[in-house]
Amino acid sequence: MTITQAPASRVGGPLRIGPIEVDVPVVLAPMAGITNMAYRRLCREYGAGLYVCEMITSRALVERTPVSMQLIQHHESEDPRSIQLYGVEPNTVAEAASILVGEDRADHIDLNFGCPVPKVTRKGGGAALPWKLDLFRELVTKTVRAAGNVPVTVKMRKGIDEDHLTYLDAARIARDAGVAAVSLHARTANEHYSGHADWSAIATLKETVTDIPILGNGDIWSAADALRMIDETGADGVVVGRGCLGRPWLFGDLAAAFRGEGLRYMPTLGEVADGFRRHAELLVEFFGSEEHACRDIRKHVAWYFKGYPIGSDVRSGLAMASSLQEIDDFLGQLDHDAPYPGAGAEGPRGRAGHAKRTALPDRWLESRDVDSEFRKVLAAAELHHSGG
Ligand SMILES: Cc1cc2nc3c(=O)[nH]c(=O)nc-3n(C[C@H](O)[C@H](O)[C@H](O)COP(=O)(O)O)c2cc1C
Repeated sequence: MTITQAPASRVGGPLRIGPIEVDVPVVLAPMAGITNMAYRRLCREYGAGLYVCEMITSRALVERTPVSMQLIQHHESEDPRSIQLYGVEPNTVAEAASILVGEDRADHIDLNFGCPVPKVTRKGGGAALPWKLDLFRELVTKTVRAAGNVPVTVKMRKGIDEDHLTYLDAARIARDAGVAAVSLHARTANEHYSGHADWSAIATLKETVTDIPILGNGDIWSAADALRMIDETGADGVVVGRGCLGRPWLFGDLAAAFRGEGLRYMPTLGEVADGFRRHAELLVEFFGSEEHACRDIRKHVAWYFKGYPIGSDVRSGLAMASSLQEIDDFLGQLDHDAPYPGAGAEGPRGRAGHAKRTALPDRWLESRDVDSEFRKVLAAAELHHSGG
């Protein structure tokens, strides 16, 4: 069900990422295991914005592993096509960008400097990398150059911890290297997904780097949160991750809010079931396998039906179904007229967890440059990476 609220006036302009103009300043955050072609298409069916592919390991793309080649696929309806690259070795990331651009596989490339996962940061990647200013500068500069006319953006965290903040230096370097926009997930790596994002850091970044768009990220659970972030920080746009898990229609709310249209999706249980079914169907198309799609959508069940009265049999049945027919049978048992449950379906969802010390390479924090020994380690680290 869509309810109409009093229309407001349009908020902000379109989002400009180099030559790309997106009608509303809303970005679907890259999320590994989530923002594949199926999910991006689904979100796009409800809203407007830039929908970023989950992170692709540059080395795997250069090696053209089957998984990475599948993950970089886009549907013909996806315009612009946006891909996030991860890597630690500048030439490898630049080569991955050359492949994407040379083979016309992307219209926008985002670089991941926000990942706090130990297997990434232990090798100096993700959120650990901007601490090393020379390595960060080289990686971004070479990638921007390799991408040519395709705009490159960077996505980063505030830093490693409060004593080792990196975002202001890194954003200035990125701007000087020619990136088209910077997104800030306003947490340190040590915070992982715990506590609250520090939106004041987004405001500080916006005041510090004024000549390219600054996008704010962290803890947007509703369209009202998105407008509040813009109001409090002056950001040029918002990046939304966990808030849309099981709620692709949030992009409808966001588009309406930025356009001042005063619409809001408050789906009945039947409408949620339809969205879930559509997601499953798009996953079948993406994976080319009903069994694989049904396995993949299991992790979404709790998010879609959060707050709705679906009963434990249907819940566990959906989490074990292995065909669309089985999914239909379980969805058919639901009370499709059950109304939107309000607060029960809103608020935080997805990863939260606790703060923990970021795993880093030995002596990483001792200086802000990488020495020649470490470069050899980095190159080797890349070579051992495979998969998506
Ligand atoms: C399941 C999951 C996977 C993620 N994968 C990526 C990723 O591949 N690349 C990236 O830059 N950030 C990744 N993130 C971080 C999100 O893009 C986003 O920065 C973070 O969730 C904070 O935004 P939110 O509060 O709107 O969720 C991931 C987050 C989650 C929850």
